Amino acid sequence: MVKSNSASEKSKQQGDRLARSTTPLPSVVALNLPISHLQQSLLAWYKQQGRDLPWRRTRDPYAIWISEIMLQQTQVKTVLPYYERWLQQFPTVFDLAKTDQQTVLKAWEGLGYYTRARNLHRAAQIIVEDHTGQFPQNYEQVVALPGIGRTTAGGILSAAYNQPVPILDGNVKRVLARLVALQVPPSKALEQLWSISEALLPASDSRDFNQAMMDLGATLCTRRRPACLLCPWQVSCEAYTQNVHLEIPMTEARAPLSHKRIGVAVVWNDQGQILIDRRPQKGLLGGLWEFPGGKIEPGETVQECIRRELQEELAIDVEVGDRLITIDHAYTHFKVTLNVFHCRHTGGDPQPIECDEVRWVSVSELEQFPFPKANIQIIDALRNE
Ligand code: ADE
Repeated sequence: MVKSNSASEKSKQQGDRLARSTTPLPSVVALNLPISHLQQSLLAWYKQQGRDLPWRRTRDPYAIWISEIMLQQTQVKTVLPYYERWLQQFPTVFDLAKTDQQTVLKAWEGLGYYTRARNLHRAAQIIVEDHTGQFPQNYEQVVALPGIGRTTAGGILSAAYNQPVPILDGNVKRVLARLVALQVPPSKALEQLWSISEALLPASDSRDFNQAMMDLGATLCTRRRPACLLCPWQVSCEAYTQNVHLEIPMTEARAPLSHKRIGVAVVWNDQGQILIDRRPQKGLLGGLWEFPGGKIEPGETVQECIRRELQEELAIDVEVGDRLITIDHAYTHFKVTLNVFHCRHTGGDPQPIECDEVRWVSVSELEQFPFPKANIQIIDALRNE
């Protein structure tokens, strides 16, 4: 099994090597922003240029919540087909709450960051049990739901109920950092950025205003090639005025991603079935199915790794045969190379020692189980053999 990095490794990777700014950050009042002009120019631009997206055609808080969770770490064009399929499969919070977790994970398959799906499912059950199936309108109750943080709560409450609750997602951080020519990386000025987002929000038009800031960040104020000449905020943008828009937002230096080499087994039994296991609920890709295997230790061959891992994790013996496929895949915090080999089961009854469940399945049954993206390529390779 591929395990996630330790917390200390992660914090080292995210370590910021920029020199600390010695100038205190100006308060939102000291910035003296032309608030009314910024509001009106952005809303006028959004009327003309805003994107027509399906979650903007509804006021159903359930549908809007689903869209906001899908959009947390995934681009709009990837989300669109998942969003439509999800609402057909689970049209209401009651449908989602009563579905089993495997079906929910299967509907999420390929979107990544599976904690989002597990949290959606748990939150749906809380909404049914504690809120009579009505999505809450109260900010404190919304952020208390699993998987909903400050910006997602703002996105939902403003879009569904037009409540003046600010947002601060990645795109909005970049837009606001440029607007005020922020001299530190956004992560070092989060409270200041929240205050700016809040100060700009018009009391009566927060739905459109928040959506408009997201669109500005996604379509014009992009990281690499901002289209400043088309931007409704150009005249007020401090980064544009100082000609530093390409240097802002300042970035945190990150250590290069670590690379794990993994040995993966497609274990066949005499009935032509394959062994799969379900990962523990907690941790990376929790609750998803996978082909067994693990990290190749220094000095170990792939074959030795596979034999060792299958003994340790499942208490079985295998004979390692031909290579099926090699897959390179990038997760957020590390890269993996999966070295996938056909294996023959030679002894031992598979035991779920480091997983929640093991199963023998036929190749045609594989599609019923939710697998991580990298494993789906293994299934395709098996089908095409
Ligand atoms: N990203 C997060 N929320 C979004 C929304 N409502 N529209 C477009 N992109 C988004």
